[in-house]
Amino acid sequence: MGKVVSKKRLGRGVVWMEVEAGLVAGRAKPGQFVIVRVDEKGERVPLTVYRQNTEKGTVELVFQEVGKTTLKLSRLNVGDEILDLVGPLGKPFQEKLYGSVVVVGGGVGAAEAYPVAQALKKAGNHVTAILGARSADLLILEEEFRNLVDEVYIATDDGSRGRKGTVVDVLKDLIAQRVEINMVYAVGPAIMMKAVSEATKPYGVKTLVSLNPIMLDGTGMCGSCRVSVGGETKLTCVDGPEFDGHQVDFEQLMARQRMYLEAEKKALQRFLEESA
Ligand SMILES: Cc1cc2nc3c(=O)[nH]c(=O)nc-3n(C[C@H](O)[C@H](O)[C@H](O)COP(=O)(O)OP(=O)(O)OC[C@H]3O[C@@H](n4cnc5c(N)ncnc54)[C@H](O)[C@@H]3O)c2cc1C
Ligand code: FES
Repeated sequence: MGKVVSKKRLGRGVVWMEVEAGLVAGRAKPGQFVIVRVDEKGERVPLTVYRQNTEKGTVELVFQEVGKTTLKLSRLNVGDEILDLVGPLGKPFQEKLYGSVVVVGGGVGAAEAYPVAQALKKAGNHVTAILGARSADLLILEEEFRNLVDEVYIATDDGSRGRKGTVVDVLKDLIAQRVEINMVYAVGPAIMMKAVSEATKPYGVKTLVSLNPIMLDGTGMCGSCRVSVGGETKLTCVDGPEFDGHQVDFEQLMARQRMYLEAEKKALQRFLEESA
């Protein structure tokens, strides 16, 4: 059980929540995640530990309302209980001195990229962040990144904030300007991580991506999070979530993400009707 300690909306459809999680707080490393089950009938959803407070025994989650479970979670109020929150899970990000690094966060991926950017900064890297969203009202954590890293670039699809275009356009601009880049870390929609990896591959820039396949148990038992990396099958929950972007079979990842789309749509519809 984990009580919701505080909650606020960061952008349209994006919620920040601080939750009591005594067994996780202080133990989660950058890149690690928890699996949350809102109630007894609820499915399990993986969410990255955005920040944590050891003294208070809390973790902060930032999530997008995409379907039934994340919507249910966002409807909890301060004082309500989450049934279970298991973690930290996944391999931690290895903080290392690369030199000059670019951290790319697409949409809610900004929250997932934040702890990694923090670790890269701590390791002494020059950190550039590229944050993107479809429009300004979906953009999150700009201020937090400006306070953390050396440079921040913003892109929105409709040009309502920052450069008109995608995070990948900004990255390509930096590469064209021959800005020194020793490593790129990208997290966001699979299609974005694919485009980032394609942009860096011709230049041989090491590119790490944090994958988001469907997960169930998060412990390597169910196989639902399997991905193909360099021709080998890997389990994202135990071997990842971070992999070499140049080796990932993104087409397979996206096809597997679409597998339950119809069932998920129906579940959301039912939930909205029942809770109206
Ligand atoms: C390691 C990891 C860390 C993540 N961290 C965050 C985070 O910090 N913030 C955030 O907003 N999202 C994060 N996600 C994605 C998040 O888990 C999904 O958005 C969530 O599970 C959707 O559940 P739902 O029931 O609301 O939507 P559904 O209606 O079930 O699904 C809507 C869409 O979400 C995706 N999805 C559904 N179930 C899962 C699942 N179990 N795992 C992954 N994707 C799924 C599918 O693409 C699906 O089409 C993370 C995913 C992974 C794998
Ligand atoms: S989520 Fe079940 S094996 Fe990874």
